[in-house]
Amino acid sequence: MDLGIRGRRAIVNGASAGLGKGCALALAREGVDLVLSARGEERLRGAAEEIVAETGASVVPIAVDHTTEEGRERILAACPEPDILVGTCSPPPWGTDFREVDREQWDEFLASGLLGPAEFIRRTVDGMAKRGFGRIVNITTGAAKFPNENRILSGPPRAALANYSVAASKVMAKDNVTINNLLPGFHHTAAAQEQFTKIAEKRGTTYEAEVGRWVEKVGIPAGRFGDPDDFGAICALFCSTYANYIVGQSLVVDGGITTAIF
Ligand SMILES: NC(=O)c1ccc[n+]([C@@H]2O[C@H](COP(=O)([O-])OP(=O)(O)OC[C@H]3O[C@@H](n4cnc5c(N)ncnc54)[C@H](OP(=O)(O)O)[C@@H]3O)[C@@H](O)[C@H]2O)c1
Repeated sequence: MDLGIRGRRAIVNGASAGLGKGCALALAREGVDLVLSARGEERLRGAAEEIVAETGASVVPIAVDHTTEEGRERILAACPEPDILVGTCSPPPWGTDFREVDREQWDEFLASGLLGPAEFIRRTVDGMAKRGFGRIVNITTGAAKFPNENRILSGPPRAALANYSVAASKVMAKDNVTINNLLPGFHHTAAAQEQFTKIAEKRGTTYEAEVGRWVEKVGIPAGRFGDPDDFGAICALFCSTYANYIVGQSLVVDGGITTAIF
């Protein structure tokens, strides 16, 4: 199915690896021109080259920290009139005791999980509204909706981002600008590779064995981790021309770990 976004321009923040890269690739497959950001230049350049080689899309990599004002300026200078904005960051650390979180940690993860994404939204929505098309997707976390004591630096900032996005989406919907959130569970990303490889090294096992153990322990009904490219396709769907009536939603993509009737 053609999603009707060929020739649109997108900013994808946090796009050199994992879910952000999956989203960038899916948009490029739909003929979207991309500006991609990440802090590490080499991995970002590699991701951009991969996407160009597969899709032939126009891809501009910008190696910056998107949580800084300077980073945001450089990204927006490269793409001053985006039609699509997708944003993510690296997962905050696991298992921080809520009693030990200090001000510096709050500042860091509020910047990446709430304030930076909110600032991108604020800076881009009016242009989208004027041009009559805008699609914004925040890649956040299942812990935003289902609080978890191990995800204290991850869930709260993104729960606030979801709240902000829903409120903002109510203002923008009449101009065909939608703002939605995707809430991932466990996926085979660079961050997951790093985390489970570390555990495997400690236990003398393999990445695959530790993922398998985790799938059992958490009880993931799908029986596996998710694929970042599949996740990206869901993001592209939310960015499609036809998703004009999906407004202020938060979709959990977690293989069935968390389920409810409504
Ligand atoms: N993977 C999972 O199973 C899982 C589960 C639940 C929630 N999530 C959420 O999904 C999101 C993506 O996770 P992931 O696993 O895909 O992470 P990942 O594999 O670490 O990829 C994160 C991407 O964002 C970039 N990035 C991080 N901070 C940035 C910054 N300040 N400025 C610019 N680029 C930045 C990274 O590149 P640089 O490091 O070079 O900047 C990288 O390209 C996170 O919000 C995470 O909390 C993931």
